[in-house]
Amino acid sequence: MKYNILTMGCQLNENDSEKLCGMLEKMGYEKTENQKEADIVVFNTCCVRENAEDKLFGKLGELKKLKEEKGIIIAIGGCMMQEKHITDKIKESYPFVDILFGTHTLHKFPEDLQKALEEKKKIEDIIDIDGEIHEGLPIKRDSKIKASVTIMNGCNNFCSYCIVPYVRGRERSRKPKDIIQEIRELAKQGYQEITLLGQNVNSYLRVEREKGIEFEEYEGVNSFATLLKAINKIDGIQRIRFVSPHPKDFIDDVIEAIATCEKVCKLVHLPLQAGNTRVLKEMNRKYSKEQYLDLVEKMRNKIPNLTLSTDIIVGFPGETDEEFEDTLDVVKRVKFEQVYMFIYSRRVGTPGDKMENQIPEEEKHKRFDKLKALVESQIEENNQKYVGTLQRVLVEGESKNNKELLTGRTDSNKVVVFEGDKNLIGKMIDLKIVSEHMWYLKGEI
Ligand code: 5AD
Ligand code: SF4
Repeated sequence: MKYNILTMGCQLNENDSEKLCGMLEKMGYEKTENQKEADIVVFNTCCVRENAEDKLFGKLGELKKLKEEKGIIIAIGGCMMQEKHITDKIKESYPFVDILFGTHTLHKFPEDLQKALEEKKKIEDIIDIDGEIHEGLPIKRDSKIKASVTIMNGCNNFCSYCIVPYVRGRERSRKPKDIIQEIRELAKQGYQEITLLGQNVNSYLRVEREKGIEFEEYEGVNSFATLLKAINKIDGIQRIRFVSPHPKDFIDDVIEAIATCEKVCKLVHLPLQAGNTRVLKEMNRKYSKEQYLDLVEKMRNKIPNLTLSTDIIVGFPGETDEEFEDTLDVVKRVKFEQVYMFIYSRRVGTPGDKMENQIPEEEKHKRFDKLKALVESQIEENNQKYVGTLQRVLVEGESKNNKELLTGRTDSNKVVVFEGDKNLIGKMIDLKIVSEHMWYLKGEI
């Protein structure tokens, strides 16, 4: 029996999919990339922006034929299933879907699948709770070199554009011992790079500490900073990354830990969202333009070789042309290594959706194009700085576009493509950068 899985959205969702794959393989299923060959098709959905919905409904249309021909099982899970208007639409317009499961019931997937198979009935397993943590799920990781480890889940920030707090529940952190033991095991298996994941990754254990919720310290870990320090000591692990943080949680001990832990990559993601103080306030981001720029300055002073990436939304309700200029101004000043740009998308149930002064699509696109042009010119300029330098690169595998070449990443997460022997895969090596090509660099051993 074979399964096919399609994942939308962020790295947390990808990590959840690795767990779904682990559970399915434990049940005896084998993975296939070819949907036509599958006995079960699983969608792990995202609902952060609208285009993910269009993608799901498009795919469901395609799958209807397979269902009719082969009687495959179709299961849909993830964030979008926590939205009632979406599950209602699926039940009404796509009644052939067998299983709907939410973000809080992922661990019950084998049980739900078994029930759907044995009882031949539709299963809906979605609950709306603050969230719990389930340890010990089997996992089948995509890579043998880099591993993602979810350390906390949920979000308490309620940025006014964002659906995440409604579909992922409140912040809760995994126990230090569970995380450290998982990473030790990964190191034993030969993993080189660990990415710590959380919707608010650097507020790890913050709620527990603030509310006096008891947790067991393990090897001195009682905060995000101490967690970084403990992982930094694990033999075998060479690199530590983390996403996605909130600027408000870059408190002094976190900055100090990034600066002093040699394995923690010096590329830090610092989501800006908007550069104008009034817009930031409406977004409920809890910092002003000046405070953001001060934080950048402080981090640059304390962390040698710091590079920054960011997320930006254009066209939040009420954003004027002039206010948008503040976003461009921050981008010009900070010179990010990478900018993830998004057009504001209305999300049902968020305060942003109820705001009256929505920006016309055409205007949002104009602003997006303007920002994109600025970002691309900066990336080109920034890439030039790499040419002629020596960069430490973790070799990840064959290049997707040319199997003769290898590919890896710098500390700053830049892709470097180079000629080399396949036995370098999984190793850290020094490469001389010889040229730049917008989205990747070319290197030589
Ligand atoms: N519209 C557009 N972008 C959004 N993001 C979150 N919600 C929305 C929305 N409603 C972006 C933010 C966030 C990233 C993961 O997605 O920039 O940091
Ligand atoms: Fe969404 Fe804001 Fe929470 Fe990030 S911090 S998940 S943008 S509400």
